[in-house]
Amino acid sequence: MEVVIVPDAKTGGELIAEAIARLLRRNPAAVLGVATGSTPLPVYQALAAMVRSGAVDVSRARVAQLDEYVGLPADHPESYRSVLGREVLEPLGLDKKAFLGPDGSASDVPAACEAYEAALEAAGGVDLQLLGIGSDGHIGFNEPCSSLASRTRIKTLTEQTRIDNARFFDGDIAQVPHHVITQGIGTILRARHLVLLATGAAKAAAVAASVEGPVAAVCPASALQLHPHATVVVDEAAAAGLNFADYFRQTYADKPAWQGL
Ligand code: GLP
Repeated sequence: MEVVIVPDAKTGGELIAEAIARLLRRNPAAVLGVATGSTPLPVYQALAAMVRSGAVDVSRARVAQLDEYVGLPADHPESYRSVLGREVLEPLGLDKKAFLGPDGSASDVPAACEAYEAALEAAGGVDLQLLGIGSDGHIGFNEPCSSLASRTRIKTLTEQTRIDNARFFDGDIAQVPHHVITQGIGTILRARHLVLLATGAAKAAAVAASVEGPVAAVCPASALQLHPHATVVVDEAAAAGLNFADYFRQTYADKPAWQGL
């Protein structure tokens, strides 16, 4: 796993946007796996700026969703489908046809999960999956003790995650759904490149456990250690718990520029 320590979230966003741009130059129809939350916003902003300046063409790219609330209508402003429409599709000028995601309002949730796995497969799989991390180490909505081999399925959110996400629901935890559909950890590990971005001191413990702790279901992001091409981009505050921080800094400083992330 490569760990890149950046001075701030904006720099992290630009670095990852550049990696996405490199991918799209190689494969203009690449499937980009996108995450919600506040952390990835600098990536989407940097990528949108590159689209506007003509530095990258995203017109043939496809965008795949990581997770979704169960029970919110698709047009609810906080359904992840709506959020990604606002934060990713619109700024990149992409049509809804470019979007792949599970149906969180389906009456048959297991069938919706299976259909999403099949849709990802039919699209050729995810080329680059962008991930955030929960304060408890979750990726997507794979809460602690999720099977490391799990596929897209329904999960129940922890109280902590519902508290963390209440800010998107007028600060009212009662409005935060209990259930979600999430790509499984096994599904996420099938993406060709995993890029996890973590910023801020609140993520330092989860980052340290994921990068330097044992691979364990209790810390879902530790599964990235099993992936042959995983990149963890962290700002100084999120890197604060890493024992190998100096080694990671030196390694990245010495990296040949042509390699990219
Ligand atoms: C939610 C999302 C995750 C995201 C996490 C952290 O739980 N399902 O994909 O990584 O929030 O969000 P933030 O980046 O806002 O801290």
